[in-house]
Amino acid sequence: MSEKLIKVTAEELHGLIKNKLMSTGMPDAMADETANHLTYADLRGVHSHGAVRVEYYSERAAKGGVTFEPDMRFEKTGDSTGILHGDNAQGHYVANEAIPYAVEMAKESGVAVIGVSKVSHTGTLSYYVNKIAEEGLFAIAMCQSDPMAVPFGGAEVYYGTNPIAFAVPRNDGPPVCFDMATTVQAWGKILDARSKGRSIPDDWAVDDRGVATTDPHNVAALTPIAGAKGYGLMMLVDMLSGVLLGVPHGGNVSSMYADLSKGRDLGHTYIVIDPERFIGLEEFKKNVDATVDELHAIRPAEGYDQIYYPGERGLIRYTNHLENGVEIPAEIIDYLKSDDIHYDNYDGKGIFAE
Ligand code: NAI
Repeated sequence: MSEKLIKVTAEELHGLIKNKLMSTGMPDAMADETANHLTYADLRGVHSHGAVRVEYYSERAAKGGVTFEPDMRFEKTGDSTGILHGDNAQGHYVANEAIPYAVEMAKESGVAVIGVSKVSHTGTLSYYVNKIAEEGLFAIAMCQSDPMAVPFGGAEVYYGTNPIAFAVPRNDGPPVCFDMATTVQAWGKILDARSKGRSIPDDWAVDDRGVATTDPHNVAALTPIAGAKGYGLMMLVDMLSGVLLGVPHGGNVSSMYADLSKGRDLGHTYIVIDPERFIGLEEFKKNVDATVDELHAIRPAEGYDQIYYPGERGLIRYTNHLENGVEIPAEIIDYLKSDDIHYDNYDGKGIFAE
């Protein structure tokens, strides 16, 4: 992709994304919510989960891999538990639809564990946990993603980049929000190193023997963060958002690019806790504020300007981009403005699209 960037407002970006998605036949509400999500991702600076994905989503939608008229159904399975059956509609839309159930249930019973079953890719998890935390709740989210990481010590892929996120409310600003993949790096970073002719650090990925490699052209799989510990976290995510919901799990999770005419059957889970049932919301928020203040007061290490709380830099980027516009690669803007729905770039790829 060329380095040329074009600055657009959030509103312009949202309109372009929604328009393109609707050109696939996607209904207005589904395209609108997906555009909300992708615009948010670009504003936060999580460009890997923003407008760059529209061509892939459009190709899948146009080829039948997204249910446009889903038979979505919320199944309340207990006072604090439920499953939103997503019928393989667009993942961002379905995962967002589950939020009101999670919020209401947590406020009624103190905690809510909500599974979102059979969805496509759900994007950047901070979007959801921030929304829930804005309601005065402690939110945790996680989801499955397609297998591209070795289990610790393995030479074959098994788990995905299985992300996990949490957000907590406070008084002095928007929620504190932590959101990460459980692999050291995303595949996009390997592609970036390839295109720039650079080597990669030796903890990012392994070759087909399972041996750490610094050559981005030799990468056969990504590695879990912190070795066996990240591997355990990947498993936790898959247990809670896959095994628990009865969707394909572990190495059987569908590949993002293998067959774009079929639904992905992914799982996504929320765990929501009402602080009112513990220390009380006001006290909780005060203590989160105190944590932030204490962290900000920590002396930075040499080479660092200050301590940021998780999500703080994303929030700064979001505020700046909302006010001043966000730079998006010209190629993406050209595609969004074109009459083309997609360029057949993704279907039938292996575990990694290049
Ligand atoms: P990252 O490495 O950029 O950030 C991870 C966390 O560290 C964030 O909470 C960030 O705020 C925090 N952080 C980073 N630098 C910091 C600093 N200097 N001080 C304090 N905190 C700092 O995130 P990663 O792992 O690259 O994930 C990117 C996104 O990809 C996430 O939004 C995740 O949800 C999404 N994702 C989605 C998948 C899906 O299938 N839906 C799969 C994998 C990732």
